[in-house]
Amino acid sequence: MIVPADAGGIRRAAALLRAGSVVAFATETVYGLGADAFSEKAVAEVYRLKNRPSWNPLIVHVPDVAAARGLAREWPEVADRLAAAFWPGPLTLVVERAPHLTQVGADTGTIAVRVPAHPVALRLLEACGLPLAAPSANRSEGISPTTAEHVLRSLPDVPLVLDGGPASWGIESTVLDVTGPVPRLLRPGALGLREIREVTGKVLLPEDVADGSARPSPGMSKRHYAPRATVVLTDEVDLALVDGTVGVLTYETADVPGAEILSADPREYAADLYAALHRLDDAGVATILVKSPPDTEEWLAIRDRLGRAAA
Ligand code: TXA
Ligand code: MG
Repeated sequence: MIVPADAGGIRRAAALLRAGSVVAFATETVYGLGADAFSEKAVAEVYRLKNRPSWNPLIVHVPDVAAARGLAREWPEVADRLAAAFWPGPLTLVVERAPHLTQVGADTGTIAVRVPAHPVALRLLEACGLPLAAPSANRSEGISPTTAEHVLRSLPDVPLVLDGGPASWGIESTVLDVTGPVPRLLRPGALGLREIREVTGKVLLPEDVADGSARPSPGMSKRHYAPRATVVLTDEVDLALVDGTVGVLTYETADVPGAEILSADPREYAADLYAALHRLDDAGVATILVKSPPDTEEWLAIRDRLGRAAA
């Protein structure tokens, strides 16, 4: 059930988490499905509810940098600078995992951590006093939820959803591996590369690692973030193709009845993207024609998600 994130709601959610259950909650990126990161039972329930493959590790959410350090074997200097610049916020750092933590993180011996900025997430972390493993609160491969209602539609068996309103970023955090000499982008996301480079200098992109030596991000499967309908990316939407079974997602004024028209500003586009895909699914279309956004760095995360939705 959906509960408002007032004092009573936070208390109930924290009690469930301390008892080893799971709770969905608002973050500034997308809604997360949270579990005590140290509870094998709770984490297993997250995987079961999402139908998530066991090889795909979870991000651990913590209230501050000190708590993040406590999960790491090594905390590189660049992680401190990134945390100072962007936490709380939509940046996830992959670091070497502390040796005593066997049940969280990736098989590669690393752990992904972030301090979320949404007041509901922060209040929940404070109230439960636990690091919260939290993937996006949707069935594996589906569209990430940006509202409490999206969560329940995708995961009707979640015991409690803490409603914090629509997610302001609307797209997942940027995942950056800082275990090597040069930070490496694992997943483009809400925080842009330009902002990150201002702190770190160079950032390696996935295609920069040509010899396959780097550890890949386990979660970047080809098909992901996908609505029920088939997504087709196109440079120009062909209006002749549009009928009741075909929906259109575009980002500038277009004379297509029923089309989802998003902003031409990438930040605003991202904030609406998943909700628009949810609406098109609700409309029952079989195909969604999506006008391809520009091939520029500002649109990197959006193009990544649309590409996987279409795969
Ligand atoms: O914005 C977000 O990051 C949201 C909110 C809820 O915080 N969470 C989220 O989690 O998107 P999830 O599980 O849907 O995506 C986590 C991504 C996956 O691609 C996963 O493979 C990667 O992070 N990941 C997690 N732990 C990792 C690790 N130790 N090494 C490399 N990649 C990791
Ligand atoms: Mg996800």
